[in-house]
Amino acid sequence: MPRILVTPYLLQDTQGPFSEILTAAGLEVVFPATRLSESVLDPEALLAELAGVSGVLAGSELYSREVLRRSGLRAIARMGVGYDAIDIPAATEFKIPVTIVPGTNDVSVAETMLALLLGVYRGFPARDAEARSGAWNRQVLPRLDGRTLGLVGLGRIGKAVVPRAAALGLQLLAFDPYLDLAFAKAHSIRATSLDELIATADIVSLHCPCTADNANLINAQTLRQMKAGSVLINTARGGLVDEEALADALEAGHLLGAGLDAFKIEPLPATSRLARLPNVLLSPHMGGLDHDSWRDMSSLAAQCLADLYQGRWPERCLVNPSIGSDWQW
Ligand SMILES: NC(=O)c1ccc[n+]([C@@H]2O[C@H](COP(=O)([O-])OP(=O)(O)OC[C@H]3O[C@@H](n4cnc5c(N)ncnc54)[C@H](O)[C@@H]3O)[C@@H](O)[C@H]2O)c1
Repeated sequence: MPRILVTPYLLQDTQGPFSEILTAAGLEVVFPATRLSESVLDPEALLAELAGVSGVLAGSELYSREVLRRSGLRAIARMGVGYDAIDIPAATEFKIPVTIVPGTNDVSVAETMLALLLGVYRGFPARDAEARSGAWNRQVLPRLDGRTLGLVGLGRIGKAVVPRAAALGLQLLAFDPYLDLAFAKAHSIRATSLDELIATADIVSLHCPCTADNANLINAQTLRQMKAGSVLINTARGGLVDEEALADALEAGHLLGAGLDAFKIEPLPATSRLARLPNVLLSPHMGGLDHDSWRDMSSLAAQCLADLYQGRWPERCLVNPSIGSDWQW
């Protein structure tokens, strides 16, 4: 019976719809012998865990060309929608289908984005700490209603943010090289260039993938172009932001604040300047995770593996469909 390694640590040694789907398809569920740190992972440790395994329900661990080449993997189902931790050209070359779980965590990320935004604008958690300690500093902050939110990326998550942001009274701008014009029109979103968005938005919120072309999209220069007193929210990928330049802009008071759920290095090193700044709200890359998305993401990833094993081609979830639907486990 082919073995499926389930690596996301929140699934470790648990049962649920995901394990039922895999077992019912005739696949054996195994967990790593040692708890894998999600993103910082020694390739040799991962390869040791992958011995005798033919499929993986994957977290954020890194599948480099070398790991893929030396593993006996037949399929990778990511429990997430980002796939930057997997060398896709190598997976395609080695005929390893890679799937993601579109449509399962958009609402969770959108709610996290708004929680960070409201936290920055309304001064939490500092106000909570003041009230508890009796400090009662009562700093007055700007109102959110009527501000302009610029969405960099209007895909699944950007679109999930839209109605929620509109309900808070925000005006909407978006930059996306493949903008869904009908959606933008239907929701009164003004399409802009990236430069115009950066220069005119009160809040810049990142909802695009991180690629070689847009790494450090938010850097010293773009931060200077952002309005004085504006806010940056990043629930996408840490690689999109030059964190030192962001810390400079926050320290200088050019930005009102920032809300960050993704970082260049995760877990965020204790030495990070961002962790010491009062006008930053931090979240440990939990944007995509709530109870519902957790169930839906793990179930859909398991279903992708079951489909691949049983000869069904999970077209909607495939990152590298060029492998061809005549592929066989
Ligand atoms: N924080 C979390 O836990 C979490 C969870 C899920 C996804 N994410 C991240 O959120 C981001 C968006 O995810 P999604 O599901 O909406 O993806 P998606 O593929 O549905 O949408 C991404 C959009 O970005 C656009 N885009 C691509 N390059 C761009 C660029 N340079 N500038 C502006 N737009 C660009 C694309 O055209 C697309 O419309 C990804 O980076 C993903 O990894 C984070």
